[in-house]
Amino acid sequence: MINQYIQENKERFLSELMDLLKIPSVSADPKFNDDVKATAEFLKKRFTELGVDRVDIIETKGHPVVYAEKIIDASLPTVLVYGHYDVQPADPIELWHSGPFEPVIKKTEIHPEGAIFARGACDDKGQMYMHLKAFEAMLKTDSLSCNAKFIIEGEEEVGSENLETFISEFKEMLTADVILVSDTGMIANDVPSITSGLRGLSYVEVEVVGPNRDLHSGLYGGAVANPINILADMIASLQDENKHITIPGFYDDVLECSSDERAEMAKAPFSEEAYCKALDIAETDGEKGFSTLERATIRPTLDVNGIWGGYIGEGAKTVLPSKANAKISMRLVPNQDPEKITALFQKHFESIAPESVKVSVTPHHGGEPALTPVDSLEYKAASLAMEESFGKKPIPVRSGGSIPIISMFEKVLGLKTILLGFGLDSDAIHSPNEHYGLYNYYKGIETIPLFYKHYAAIKK
Ligand code: BES
Ligand code: MN
Ligand code: MN
Repeated sequence: MINQYIQENKERFLSELMDLLKIPSVSADPKFNDDVKATAEFLKKRFTELGVDRVDIIETKGHPVVYAEKIIDASLPTVLVYGHYDVQPADPIELWHSGPFEPVIKKTEIHPEGAIFARGACDDKGQMYMHLKAFEAMLKTDSLSCNAKFIIEGEEEVGSENLETFISEFKEMLTADVILVSDTGMIANDVPSITSGLRGLSYVEVEVVGPNRDLHSGLYGGAVANPINILADMIASLQDENKHITIPGFYDDVLECSSDERAEMAKAPFSEEAYCKALDIAETDGEKGFSTLERATIRPTLDVNGIWGGYIGEGAKTVLPSKANAKISMRLVPNQDPEKITALFQKHFESIAPESVKVSVTPHHGGEPALTPVDSLEYKAASLAMEESFGKKPIPVRSGGSIPIISMFEKVLGLKTILLGFGLDSDAIHSPNEHYGLYNYYKGIETIPLFYKHYAAIKK
């Protein structure tokens, strides 16, 4: 019945998503503020058409939150759906094969039935919109088995800084039994999986200042400390020859994965060769003693995200720069505290600076790691839902990405989150030519109602 409804409305479900993807809701760049607003308005309209009891655009200090709810029976459990309508900047724009905000459908090797190419197609407009359409299908076929609340925010890609205040302020309104999020991935279209953990994030910007002006690199080179050379040395020293991070205390709070859990992880299908081939690299690289999958999910990391300074224009300009900068991210694992790690970084980075330069560290937004126990009722409902729609039991996997608000849901609202994601690593989120499989979009719309169904049954 519900699947028939989805089948019959397939085309419209897709064209609505296409319209949503046309609005460039880039949260990081104030140039797009009006578009961000328009995206919130777009969602409000769609919720209104669905016949929710309530839908509001709620202002924050930053971009607004779209909130909607439908309470069908106070004695039923309530599912609180979280998603984000903001997207990453599209740059570098010249690497897109079609406009980032002009969605097109193309077939790919991994998505033979077609994928929709646009910024936000997978992260997170496509995955978030599945929830509206799944909700529509349940409502229209009289099969909504839980109350539903939705928080769709516009600042996830910039750290969800105002959402924490929002959920504290609207704690009463957000009363629910479980949080449901589709903003992660699964292993492959024929290998369903559920994300059981996310990494946290500590993000800093560093500046190394040498002489009070750029100098002639012939007259001064060799005698005056070069901030770029120094920055490069300092960054290099943050990892040893085993790619172990050298910041004192960095690993102190790491909750190590048990050998049983690591053995379980190793069962997930993974080809090192295919991984390298997809990225055009000869081999992988990372912390000694851990597999590629482990390095990317259950181990903390330190990566330079950007580095600049000196002359980068045409031709050669012989200059010894006065300044060098870098942005550095550290992905954290359960039990590591982003504020503590940022403080450890700052202290260490300042302590290794030579006298010849001045160093400063500016912290940016961070986020805490998250874990969903695989033996919880919520997880069981998600697992049954996936098993029913994919015909295969999903594998629990940890993911390397971060969604800062998830740990706040637990702290402030006392709720566990189910990360029911349908994206693939190859969907190029945050990269040029981001896309989302049509199979994944429709499979998500089919699976979500099954979660409501199994969750309501388990809670009875
Ligand atoms: N949806 C992603 C996070 C993600 C993607 C988790 C795939 C697991 C699998 C989210 O939108 C994101 O990009 N998060 C940022 C957080 C940051 C901006 C604070 C990240 O992980 O870099
Ligand atoms: Mn996302
Ligand atoms: Mn993202």
